[in-house]
Amino acid sequence: MPQTAVASALKALDVHASTLAPAHVRNFFAQDPDRFQNFSVSLDDFLFDFSKHKITGETLRLLAALAEARDLPSRRAALFAGEAVNNTEGRAAMHMALRDLSGRPLPVQGVDMRREIEAEREKVFAFARAVREGKLTGAGGLPFTDVVNIGIGGSDLGPAMAARALSPYAKGGPRAHFVANVDGADLSDTLARLDLSRTLFIVSSKTFTTQETMANAASARARVVAALGEAAVGLHFAAVSTRLDKVAQFGIEPSRVFGFWDWVGGRYSLWSAIGLALAIAVGPENFTDFLRGGHDVDIHFQEAPLDKNIPALMGLLGVWHRNMLGRAAHAVIPYDQRLARFPAYLQQLDMESNGKSVTRDGALVAGATGPIVFGEPGTNGQHAFFQLLHQGTDVTPIDFLLAAEPIDADAHHHALLFSNCLAQSEAFMRGRTLEEAKTLLRKEGRSEADVERLAPHKVFSGDRPSSTLLYRRLDPRTLGRLVALYEHKVFVQSVIWDINPFDQWGVELGKELASRLAPIVEDDKASTAALDGSTAGLIDWRRSHQG
Ligand code: F6P
Repeated sequence: MPQTAVASALKALDVHASTLAPAHVRNFFAQDPDRFQNFSVSLDDFLFDFSKHKITGETLRLLAALAEARDLPSRRAALFAGEAVNNTEGRAAMHMALRDLSGRPLPVQGVDMRREIEAEREKVFAFARAVREGKLTGAGGLPFTDVVNIGIGGSDLGPAMAARALSPYAKGGPRAHFVANVDGADLSDTLARLDLSRTLFIVSSKTFTTQETMANAASARARVVAALGEAAVGLHFAAVSTRLDKVAQFGIEPSRVFGFWDWVGGRYSLWSAIGLALAIAVGPENFTDFLRGGHDVDIHFQEAPLDKNIPALMGLLGVWHRNMLGRAAHAVIPYDQRLARFPAYLQQLDMESNGKSVTRDGALVAGATGPIVFGEPGTNGQHAFFQLLHQGTDVTPIDFLLAAEPIDADAHHHALLFSNCLAQSEAFMRGRTLEEAKTLLRKEGRSEADVERLAPHKVFSGDRPSSTLLYRRLDPRTLGRLVALYEHKVFVQSVIWDINPFDQWGVELGKELASRLAPIVEDDKASTAALDGSTAGLIDWRRSHQG
């Protein structure tokens, strides 16, 4: 599509943004009693409400024109056709194939992967069942009570987030734990609570070279050998990787090694054998429901018209805030304690995908790309950083995630949780004017002097945008939908920004330097002379302050 179409779509959006600037979203609600119906979309028992953004039908029309100018439909088709959309690595990004249970062919770069995908999934499920049923045991013949996934980034955040989210479904299986950090405290603190003779380790690493994972796996192995003997290693370790050659070198028995493919990006790998710890924790049936949820959204994303397409709308609203209104951050606040790790999971999904400064062709991007993503569960966040979100000088769009009913929590608690979430999104939207603040203070019986002095502190600008994702309950299928929605949202934004969301070259430099520094840090006699002054100074300070 010619650049001029993109440029004029962007220009029209900028002009439109200045036209809307003086308006306040609360007046939009006052003027349009159907605003909620007009600016919300349902997907079965799943609702996306975006009526609290300061947008109009014209905003959506102009954003759709931008998506059209960027060829979103054909880029989406290429993604789902398994083409090599990851152009810097020459790979497809076909994680959707892992959750497509329809039985149709699943072409990835021209090769139908369906049989291979199904065979690997069956292997994962058979292993998960055997562990859950106690048919696979540790060295002493005892069933496993605990599974420790050793991995980092995409080989940790997905299964860790999902295992916590679906904890009510983890009945009858071993407990799942996740060790990621190279800080030895992570492994030590986790193992301090466990009985090694009843613990299964899963070493999860797409590349099987990641420093943190290799260090933690080696330490875990040493502990198993020390406690149970060398022969126990085969019984207490399994692995998940695309690099089966490297796993073999580590010494894990081939029948306990589960593979996936280089066309599954690390941060998109939860659907693959990387979900093994989750499959063991919640069982294959619940894992399958999780896959179904992801596939529901794949169909919706491909078939729903743009103005009813939830991931497309989420992506385009993000573009509106980032590019037209200059908003640098995006908050994700689940009013759902079991989604406590969802913001951390999204940080990798969103920021590792769209934290880019060059286009797919390597040219500098013209405008801003991915925002800083952060979040904490509500209501906790309310008592921490919401002050800034309400009255700070930056406006941060928010996604609220909320269940209509709890799974096993007290109904009264859930009513409080639910009303807090709605109260917050209302407060962000409505705000409180100076006059309203004064009236409130007068009602409290304050003196006129106090009213004048305090009222400015009690003003809320409002007009602070939020979306609400409301689902019936946090079950496996809902979680699958949530994850896939955000995956496709991130993809939509990458299309608008013309960047490759499937590589992550930005993590390389730090990794290289860490490998170069490790021997210097470990050997007190190693020279720091070749290092920059700050790095050398910090190492020298450590040397003079140790033990
Ligand atoms: O941090 C960079 C990264 O490559 C992520 O993209 C990936 O999810 C993580 O490291 C872990 O990589 P691996 O699964 O290869 O150990």
